[in-house]
Amino acid sequence: MIDLSTKLGSLELQNPVLLASGVWDFPYTKIIDFKRLGGVICKGVSPFPKEGNPPPRITETHCGLINSIGLENKGFDYFECEILPELKKLGTKIFVNIFGESIEEFKEIASKIKEVAGVEVNISCPNVSKGGEKFGKDPKMVFSITKAVCGETDLPVIVKLSPSVENIEETAQAAKEGGAMAVTASNTFPGLVIDLESKRPLFKRITGGLSGPAIKPLALYNVYRIKNAVDIPIIGSGGISDYKDVLEYFIAGASAVQLGSIIFNNPLAPIEILDNLICWLGEKGYKNLKDVNKK
Ligand SMILES: Cc1cc2nc3c(=O)[nH]c(=O)nc-3n(C[C@H](O)[C@H](O)[C@H](O)COP(=O)(O)O)c2cc1C
Repeated sequence: MIDLSTKLGSLELQNPVLLASGVWDFPYTKIIDFKRLGGVICKGVSPFPKEGNPPPRITETHCGLINSIGLENKGFDYFECEILPELKKLGTKIFVNIFGESIEEFKEIASKIKEVAGVEVNISCPNVSKGGEKFGKDPKMVFSITKAVCGETDLPVIVKLSPSVENIEETAQAAKEGGAMAVTASNTFPGLVIDLESKRPLFKRITGGLSGPAIKPLALYNVYRIKNAVDIPIIGSGGISDYKDVLEYFIAGASAVQLGSIIFNNPLAPIEILDNLICWLGEKGYKNLKDVNKK
């Protein structure tokens, strides 16, 4: 029996495979056995409803997706009544992804999240005009938001870092000092798509957030840098397509990973990745995932 369990701070996960925020919805329960996952992060929730950006909002690139959703959601009250009860039925660990346009909004939403495994704080969305990566690029703001959120909840707090910084070690350190239990490295990278008909940027907000295989080496490098500079558990996120990517993230320093855009291409990827991880570890003679990093 191969043991895939992993620890994020004090939190034990049955395996390192989490589904990322915004890339899955409840119809996936027909395809994926959620009980097999390490956990899921739900679509971002803000204290008040948010319309998101005008269409178009998502398009494919040669090696990934680029989106400009703009964190559309129906706000906390709807989340609490309609979504949270369904999340609780999934039989896996639930992390609630939250965002706000001010420290006050982050405090408000953080104080309301209850009865889940943890909170993921999104301070890194490149597709909004207020907050988002503007907060995530400023280590002082990262510290203040993390501290404010941690002051409002007893749940473990994960801070989702922006890749659009010169020194991701600094923002990871700021999250740690603010009280974060872990960081997610990292969110989507800003990018541009030109519409050839209009000869203008495709998205109304000009840029979108690039995800998928194109960003894997970049996000992996972020994990590596943080691991070598800051003593905090890391969740790797960016471009994971198969079990080898998961192992690379693990060896670079991640304790868990998030699967994002791959779910659109292959909804069975999470289960295939788990099965292939077990096979690989067995073939190599490892009894558990932690042994991979033993010399
Ligand atoms: C359509 C779409 C919606 C997303 N929505 C959110 C969101 O609400 N909150 C968030 O923190 N990240 C969001 N993300 C970012 C993903 O959670 C993930 O960090 C990113 O896609 C990188 O992982 P990947 O390369 O495996 O897709 C979204 C990504 C996509 C493609």
